[in-house]
Amino acid sequence: MNMITCNTSEEAAQVAAQLVIDRVNAKPDAILGLPTGGTPLGMYAALAKAVREKRVDLSAVTTFNLDEYCGLPVSHPESYLTFMTRNFYAPCGLAAAQTHIPDGEAADPDAEALAYDNAIRAIGGIDLQVLGIGHNGHIGFNEPGTPPDARTHSVLLTEQTRRANARFFASLDEVPTRAITMGIATILEARELLLLANGADKADILAAALRGPVTPDNPASFLQGHPRLTVIADRAAGARIVS
Ligand code: F6R
Repeated sequence: MNMITCNTSEEAAQVAAQLVIDRVNAKPDAILGLPTGGTPLGMYAALAKAVREKRVDLSAVTTFNLDEYCGLPVSHPESYLTFMTRNFYAPCGLAAAQTHIPDGEAADPDAEALAYDNAIRAIGGIDLQVLGIGHNGHIGFNEPGTPPDARTHSVLLTEQTRRANARFFASLDEVPTRAITMGIATILEARELLLLANGADKADILAAALRGPVTPDNPASFLQGHPRLTVIADRAAGARIVS
């Protein structure tokens, strides 16, 4: 594992963006796995700036997002498709054909999950998967208790996750109860992983994930077994990790 601790979340975002830029410059048609949430916003802004300044060309990449809410119209401002369009696809000039995200409005979420997983396999797998970490250790929406062999599937969100995400909605009631997520096995098959974490509220769970036992109680702990994992944390999130 390569652990990079930065002084600030802004610096962490720059370092994360540079890692993505380096990988895409080395392989312009890279397959990128991407997260939503608050953590990657700085990285997305830094990537958009790099595109504008022609330090990277994203026109040949293909992206697969980790997850999408079920039962939220895709036009909703907090659907992950809208989030990605606003924060990454549009600012970086990505065409719709380059981007993939599970269809949260699919009539059969399990069939949609299977088709999504098959699409990732069909393209040859993900080169670089970027991840955030939930306060309960979730990666994607793989909540505690998810087995490591889980592939892309539909899930019931925990109360803790819904409460954490309520900040993006008018009320907790509006937060969807289900989602489709890449599974832990799907995530671990990526050839490289980049885990991002910011803020003191992530310090305990990040330390437990990286230094504690590998257990479904903390899904991010399964990342310990990946041969090519980089963790980029700001000082507050990295504070509890003893080397
Ligand atoms: C979102 C995702 C989640 C988030 C996690 C952290 O696509 O996969 O696992 O990475 O909930 O969210 P933030 O960054 O908002 O703290």
